[in-house]
Amino acid sequence: AFSISIAGGGSTYTPEIILMLLENLDRFPIRKIIFYDNDYERQKLVADACEIILRERAPEIEFLSTTNPKDGFTDIDFVMAHIRVGKYEMREKDEKIPLEHGIVGQETCGPGGIAYGLRSITGVVELIDYMEEYSPNAWMLNYSNPASIVAEGVRVLRPDSKVLNICDMPIDIEERMAVIAGLESRKDMTVRYYGLNHFGWWDDIRDKDGNDLMPVIKKYVLENGYNLELLNKEVRLNDPDWLDTYRFAKEVYRLDTETLPTTYFKYYLFSDYAVKHTDKNYTRANQVMDGREKRVFDECSTIVEKNTAKETNLEIGVHASYIVDLARALAFNTHERMLLIVENKGAICGVDPTAMVEIPCIVGANGPEPLSIGEIPTFQRGLIQQQLAVEKLAVEAYVEESYQKLWQALTLSRTMGDADLAKVILDELIEANIDYWPNL
Ligand code: G6P
Repeated sequence: AFSISIAGGGSTYTPEIILMLLENLDRFPIRKIIFYDNDYERQKLVADACEIILRERAPEIEFLSTTNPKDGFTDIDFVMAHIRVGKYEMREKDEKIPLEHGIVGQETCGPGGIAYGLRSITGVVELIDYMEEYSPNAWMLNYSNPASIVAEGVRVLRPDSKVLNICDMPIDIEERMAVIAGLESRKDMTVRYYGLNHFGWWDDIRDKDGNDLMPVIKKYVLENGYNLELLNKEVRLNDPDWLDTYRFAKEVYRLDTETLPTTYFKYYLFSDYAVKHTDKNYTRANQVMDGREKRVFDECSTIVEKNTAKETNLEIGVHASYIVDLARALAFNTHERMLLIVENKGAICGVDPTAMVEIPCIVGANGPEPLSIGEIPTFQRGLIQQQLAVEKLAVEAYVEESYQKLWQALTLSRTMGDADLAKVILDELIEANIDYWPNL
């Protein structure tokens, strides 16, 4: 059985991940779970509730929660990392500062995403160093955002570390595609997909017999995007903002009907629409703080007060079972095919070999073997090159402490445009991130 450290123990996602791990114990046996966070108070509430859940459902699992790196990372097989450096207070600033200037304000897209990226690199590298010091054979399964910039930062700063970067966005959309195609599960599909994280496209989707599912999915997306309301089936993320994003995928698809897009192209290709449909005084960060964060923390308090989780309405993070699939692939050499963020090394023709791209990989005990994608259309290649330059400049700016390069990164973002305005936004972001960023 395996020993796991959950870094970002105080995350609102932690309880649903614990429930998911418990649900999967027969596939992935666990002997110890450690919560690690640098925020004692925040983690304590989540940990106290999870300890009760574990006591009731799997008393054989040893449990510990700590803010001490040595305790958090000793005797560990896997680190599951989902940290948010600066928490929702900083996400709110990432969103509101650009929006105040009429520019997309989103946690991983545009200026806000770059700002978050510069905070996250420090946090993730710190976790890698702890892991390597106390459990040198462990793997880190990282899904901390913004995944692309984080992956590039790790490639540059810790090139030999055992870190795999994975994201739930393609998984969420594939679950929707499976519903559209009338399949039981996304695992009944084999996909070809390429791009950067939160910035990719599917160009081939087959069922188990090799039948082409693209036509039926495309037909649906042309009318409804990835919105499943018509099918009376919601997978998750069904609040109004997300529904709008899923619906809007149809506009993105109409612009290029060869491939099926991930949803955040709304922010890059239809930036004006995105800005117009965002309340700059009450952004997604506010929704999450008043919604998910409150709900999860309240529920944790109830569990602690009642000293039982038998009647909890905390939900299992079913979609998060991809993390178990990844851990299993490494532990049991399953050779499962999954989408990971890995170094390009020629997989996508015409894209920098050092780019951290999101593509299908076969994952076994030695890690991922990326599959070759080959040539891609000019439209996609152009968008990738531009966004890649943004991400690489952001990481170079971080490493070299270069104001100039960060200004270039913001200016080059497709959400931006004007260099003067990019500078105004950059200066405000620098001030907001004074406690987090390198000194530019
Ligand atoms: C999707 C993305 C994640 C992102 C999340 C934000 O799942 O793939 O990368 O973190 O949405 O959701 P939220 O509810 O926090 O806005």
